[in-house]
Amino acid sequence: MWAIPLIAGVAFVLVYVLKGVKTYMELRDFGGPWSAGWTRLWLLRCHLSGSINTKFTEVNDQYGSTARVAPKMLVTCDPELVRRMNAVRSSFTRGPWYTSLKMHPESENIACYTDEDKHTDMRSRTSHGYSGKENVHLEQDIDDLILHMLNLIEREYLAKPKEGLFCCMDLAKVTSYFTLDVISKVAFGEPFGFLVANDDPFGYMANMKQFLPAVGWFGVYHELTNILRIPFIKASLPGSMDKRGLGRVMGFAKERVSERFGDKAVVRQDMLNSFIKNGLTQLELEGETMLQITAGSDSTASALRITAHFISTSPPILERLLGEVKEAIAAGRISRPVIQNSEALQLPYLQACIKEGLRVYPPITGMLAKMVPKGGAKINVGGVEKYAPSGTQIAWNSWGLMRNKEIFGPDADIFRPERWLASEDTEETQKNMLRMNETLPLVFGYGRFGCLGKVVANMELNKALIEVCADASFMTNSAD
Ligand code: HEM
Repeated sequence: MWAIPLIAGVAFVLVYVLKGVKTYMELRDFGGPWSAGWTRLWLLRCHLSGSINTKFTEVNDQYGSTARVAPKMLVTCDPELVRRMNAVRSSFTRGPWYTSLKMHPESENIACYTDEDKHTDMRSRTSHGYSGKENVHLEQDIDDLILHMLNLIEREYLAKPKEGLFCCMDLAKVTSYFTLDVISKVAFGEPFGFLVANDDPFGYMANMKQFLPAVGWFGVYHELTNILRIPFIKASLPGSMDKRGLGRVMGFAKERVSERFGDKAVVRQDMLNSFIKNGLTQLELEGETMLQITAGSDSTASALRITAHFISTSPPILERLLGEVKEAIAAGRISRPVIQNSEALQLPYLQACIKEGLRVYPPITGMLAKMVPKGGAKINVGGVEKYAPSGTQIAWNSWGLMRNKEIFGPDADIFRPERWLASEDTEETQKNMLRMNETLPLVFGYGRFGCLGKVVANMELNKALIEVCADASFMTNSAD
């Protein structure tokens, strides 16, 4: 009586073990933590630890530029491989990891499509809106929000030593308020109002903090995304009728989208308008709007706050940047009240600081795993060719990429903008500079998957960093 279930049980375990051994053997060429070859738990723990950047870098340092971090998952810090996987004509595709980026219960978005044709089509329809080509107010909108941010800083946080008033400002919060207001303004014409409220009016940031670990779970166990279809689980997710949190932001976005349709449709030349012109449906727009908010805010805020942190805590760097700003203002090379993007691009030390901030703390450290195509792929690890079978996912290690000592020098762990301003013009220096300049843009991804909001992000960084400095420089002058 027990024989049949017993035999079935043993057969099941045997099949499971054999499958595990087969999967382990498929990537046996690659080094990596031993348990990561057998179970995804190592990777999950790594995600949930909050230090995936340093953990991946330890793995690449110890086991080579491409190493195993889960049974069918490799991680790479090799810039050549990243370019190869993302290139326009590459046969690598997005891996199932990307399904973890679905932000909206009903609608997908450009960042989570794993269907190549759908992704390419959506990219061609949204790229003009994101890049600003069909968004004539882009620069002015950012300028308005810069002034709001400066106003907030002066109103609430300016120290008045003579009155014995000293204030602390949470740079992390103010930079997030700024980028959230910018993205809502440039995307659909209305800022959320974080800067005016000097607060998180919808509880959005707090809610995102709770939800982000879920991206880790879904990214590692992508099969789990199916449970989101179960009605009672779906009902417990944030929804556009919520009064607070992510759901409230969804509601806000939904309202802005619906305003563009019907008899009294609002017409404004912004990202939303460009998307509508290029044929996105109302549901697609809602999914895309959620992505604009999430992809466009925290990434830029992270770059802004880390660069401002390093500049303001390194007196020689601050002094040199202030010098550049003062000189440019005196020479009339910086428009007032807000610098033009084209003017900021002419300030070499500012550009070096921005590059260095993006490099030393790349804002996106999620896995962005691409998938090995049919026929498998040969991957060069330290001069040895290794084989990855079709279906293997390869994540990127942006932190490891940007702290590569062979590319950025032995002091790659240090924030030193001067590395971007070569003092001598030897062939060797030019070669190194070229390698650095080719590697850095990878922080925005590459090729057919590269960031669509790069223009917006760079404009925010160019303006916000210089205006905060110009303000500080003006204050120093006044104090003199
Ligand atoms: C410093 C700030 C930013 C950084 C470092 C950054 C970086 C990235 C990276 C690494 C990717 C993914 C590439 C891949 O999947 O392989 C990406 C995708 C994307 N980013 Fe950004 N981003 C930033 C700001 C922005 C902003 C401000 C916006 C919106 C205005 C934006 C919109 C997007 C979109 C729509 C995608 C998806 C592109 C696609 O699926 O083809 N990003 N970004």
